[in-house]
Amino acid sequence: MSTAREVVDGVDLTGKTCVITGASAGLGRESARALAAAGAHVILAARNMAALGEAQQWIEAESPGARTSLVALDLTSLAGVRTAAVAIAELAPRIDVLMNNAGVMFTPFARTADGFENQFGTNHLGHFELTRLLRPQLAGARIVILSSDGHHMSDVDLDDPNWERREYDKFAAYGASKTANILHMVELNRRYGDAGVHAVAVHPGVVGTSLARHMTRDDFGALRSMAADNRDKGAVLDSLLTPEQGAATQVWAATAPELDGAGSVYLADRAIRDDVEAYALDPERAVRLWEISETLCG
Ligand SMILES: NC(=O)c1ccc[n+]([C@@H]2O[C@H](COP(=O)([O-])OP(=O)(O)OC[C@H]3O[C@@H](n4cnc5c(N)ncnc54)[C@H](OP(=O)(O)O)[C@@H]3O)[C@@H](O)[C@H]2O)c1
Repeated sequence: MSTAREVVDGVDLTGKTCVITGASAGLGRESARALAAAGAHVILAARNMAALGEAQQWIEAESPGARTSLVALDLTSLAGVRTAAVAIAELAPRIDVLMNNAGVMFTPFARTADGFENQFGTNHLGHFELTRLLRPQLAGARIVILSSDGHHMSDVDLDDPNWERREYDKFAAYGASKTANILHMVELNRRYGDAGVHAVAVHPGVVGTSLARHMTRDDFGALRSMAADNRDKGAVLDSLLTPEQGAATQVWAATAPELDGAGSVYLADRAIRDDVEAYALDPERAVRLWEISETLCG
């Protein structure tokens, strides 16, 4: 199994700028390390500035001369997203790679500062707004959107995306947010493909990170039986990857020239995978989700 660092072996990203959300931990931090080692200016964004600072030191210790910048980003607050977008635009008049990587999983019911359900608000709406605000910087950019095989668990309920009229289900809410990530890719490509923007969606594998911190022992059992039911759809929990291995596909997604012109694709194991739910690729639902997201973000 190759690693993110191996993916960029021989790749020269000097002069390129990459923005990574959720770069203080896990897959985002590992992706930042690989892209910086290849010469890119990497803008690391997340809430925890101390952890971002440690990630920056770790990268610079490994790659002396690496160019990194830090931006505070809280995806649970539209005001926070707007502040971060201004800071990013000041650092980078042109962005080559936007990696919408930050995420939370199976969180207990909560609402963001703007009243959105926490998983949909963080994983989709915060990134929707960030991407929309950075659009002037994104001409010709690759947008790498971290989705998940968890999208098999649920479609987005476009009539109740913020769980106002249903009993909350943390598994379905995560699945819906990861479906929303794929629909976001579809509509980004339709709207901005002609302007050279290319969005792709990624399933990184099942990776040992802190993402599972909200899971109980019972949750692991429930997930195992769901995965067994969906084995034909690739939802396999057996082989846990390290973050170095897990970040390989998203770093490949950010840099592979062979993906130019590939359109809306779902990537896993450094390849295009076709086992995506039809509801996640439905262009009409992608338009509806975009319009709903625009209304919600104001
Ligand atoms: N690990 C897996 O097995 C797996 C599988 C499929 C898909 N994925 C996807 O991969 C992505 C990265 O996951 P990971 O495993 O690396 O998780 P992780 O180790 O928990 O890291 C999550 C990152 O997101 C940031 N984040 C969380 N909430 C945020 C918020 N409100 N605003 C800004 N940043 C926020 C965290 O930083 P702060 O707390 O500092 O803000 C952290 O840097 C997620 O989108 C996840 O859905 C992961």
